[in-house]
Amino acid sequence: MIKKITAVFLIFNFSFTIVSKADEGMWLPLLLKQLNESDMQRNGLKLSAEDIYSINKSSLKDAIVQFNGGCTAEVISDKGLILTNHHCGYGQIQAHSSVQNDLLTNGFWAMNQSEELVNAGVTATFIVRMEDVTSKVLAGITDQMGDAERDKKINEAIVQIQKEAVTGTRYAAFIRPFYYGNEYYMFITETFTDVRLVGAPPSSIGKFGGDTDNWIWPRHTGDFSIFRIYANKNNEPANYSADNIPYKPKYVIPISMKGVESGDFTMVYGFPGRTTEYLSSYAVNMIMNQSDPDKVKIRNTRLQIMDQAMKGSDAIRIQYAAKYAGIANYWKKWQGEINGLKKLDAISKKEQFEKSFLLNVNASNDARNKYGNLFTDFEKKYKELSILNKQRDYYYEAILGVEAISYTSSFYDVIEGLYAGKKINDYEKEIDKLKSNMKVFFKYFNASTDEKIAIALLKMYSEDINKKDQPEIFSIIEKKYHGDFSKYAQEIYAKSIFVSEDKMNKLFQNFGRNYKKISKDPMYKLMQSCYSKFLKDIKPQYTALDVDVTKLNRAYMKGMRELITDKKYYPDANSTLRVAYGKVNGYFPRDGVFYDYYTTLEGLIEKENPLVDEFMVSPKLKELYLKKDYGKYADKNGELRVAFCASNHTTGGNSGSPVLNGEGQLIGTNFDRDWEGTMSDIMYDPNQVRNIVLDVRYTLFVIDKYAGAGYLLNEMQIAN
Ligand code: ARG
Ligand code: GLU
Repeated sequence: MIKKITAVFLIFNFSFTIVSKADEGMWLPLLLKQLNESDMQRNGLKLSAEDIYSINKSSLKDAIVQFNGGCTAEVISDKGLILTNHHCGYGQIQAHSSVQNDLLTNGFWAMNQSEELVNAGVTATFIVRMEDVTSKVLAGITDQMGDAERDKKINEAIVQIQKEAVTGTRYAAFIRPFYYGNEYYMFITETFTDVRLVGAPPSSIGKFGGDTDNWIWPRHTGDFSIFRIYANKNNEPANYSADNIPYKPKYVIPISMKGVESGDFTMVYGFPGRTTEYLSSYAVNMIMNQSDPDKVKIRNTRLQIMDQAMKGSDAIRIQYAAKYAGIANYWKKWQGEINGLKKLDAISKKEQFEKSFLLNVNASNDARNKYGNLFTDFEKKYKELSILNKQRDYYYEAILGVEAISYTSSFYDVIEGLYAGKKINDYEKEIDKLKSNMKVFFKYFNASTDEKIAIALLKMYSEDINKKDQPEIFSIIEKKYHGDFSKYAQEIYAKSIFVSEDKMNKLFQNFGRNYKKISKDPMYKLMQSCYSKFLKDIKPQYTALDVDVTKLNRAYMKGMRELITDKKYYPDANSTLRVAYGKVNGYFPRDGVFYDYYTTLEGLIEKENPLVDEFMVSPKLKELYLKKDYGKYADKNGELRVAFCASNHTTGGNSGSPVLNGEGQLIGTNFDRDWEGTMSDIMYDPNQVRNIVLDVRYTLFVIDKYAGAGYLLNEMQIAN
């Protein structure tokens, strides 16, 4: 019987495999031995799983850093030097920049340790170990339990297990659900907080091609920056102190000068953020036909307005650089994702899979009882969810896309609490925090640009969201201003204290007295109307549906693993440490076009355009190019390679991840994905998905020949 089911399944499954070609998947390091080692070795890995992840000896894992929560970095010297992307260190480079001393434009290189720049709040986190804690977390959980009780029990267990794991150590622990809560893993971490900027190329190298080339292969961006981790005398994490010394790592990744060729094995070791590979067709439909297009539309408007302002003023350009890049990044990615899903015919592939899954389900009473209603339930829930999801997207992207509104909302709890009768003393800490946030906010805020954004986005919101679902303030704008959003915005930006640093300073001079006027502030009123609508209506309903959908996903995931057993299932990315592996390889992006697997400085110069910021080449780099002064960084044909692409399955968060050869040596730094492959967060296609990697030889060339900071290379282990 089971055999027969599998046969039926295979017929329906002709083109769609959920998992496990050599290149698809983001695997848990502690399971490599069991799941992947032999496959990896067959594909060219010379190491053992134990060399990659071990709790008994130092291993590659000890050189992998989660950089500032969102990116990855790797340890490349025994003095704590770490390599990540330029776009990962961008916020820090920006923070040290001014119109007079513009490190974004000019780059920065410390010529010795004393010149390194201190960064407030930057973190570097290592994974000490990980552990499967599923049976502990789910102990005593039964299928009969109600959701609330189940969640409560699980959360209590998690808190308890985490606590036990690290009490009396300097480590932290966190537990995350995997496979939609079918499994749980715990991660023990060590976080360093004195991380200094050592070097960054100028944007003309580190951001070459800018947003135009972002998410695009072939690519010529020298997307790297270098930091150094500092520790106290005992090699332990410590906040900045002049007495701190360079961190002595447990493992240093050696660097290969050999480069890579088509077909070579590669692996990526890092912290991919979020993927959703096991969604139902209903979810994919909502994402590709509603959510992605909505968010693209809203950001389009925001970006156009920002772009104009930045082009008109250097000060605004520096102020808005990181913000703009961040907003533009996913704006573009979502567009690629829509295209990719369409081209893959993702919805029908999912539907086909669902049909074949159901055949398996209907083959036994037990499975039918457990999974028989899954897809009708999905359909029903997604109908409801789509409506709320739209309101939620518009709240986050359009309403909070107005920075003054999102800034003002940070005062909501304190102000409402005070109006409700709490004492000012109850909020001492919160008020201090608001005060220090104020400085950061205004450093990166331009009121007149934001006013323009407010006019456009509020108008868009009022047109696209059903009247009955809009916050009350919109009917007031309709009545009092006859829907003239310019007039309304002009008035609130002129009157509100929240858009003026001076006025805000005055507020903080005597908060206890001055807060009383805030209820009349027009920006506060706008925020209050929108935020309370969100809190009272949108969020609770959305959350309830999301809980239901997660439960369905948990059952679906369980069913897949139970009934379709000829596959290896990797868990969706969730910002935990993973290994992806694949091969260096070009691809056919469209009919009749082939993209080769590497790019060169020659190609960078071909893209040069002195009239367009993003494609300017600095005279120094031009000179090195003209002299062909590539030294030992050239490949065997005398070319200087800039980047290469490979079929590793990666996502946001993998930026800065080390890309390693079969010997475990560093061959490059991951920094992007190809346009044709951006749908791989939802559906992977081995023919189209490529990760984009900065060739480490270009990195070393820039440090040495361009920046004259070759002294740093002496710290590294460079294998010729
Ligand atoms: N697309 C890359 C990633 O997702 C790089 C983003 C930074 N670069 C940029 N031009 N905005 O993060
Ligand atoms: N640039 C992305 C990051 O910051 C990586 C590209 C991707 O999403 O694959 O993590």
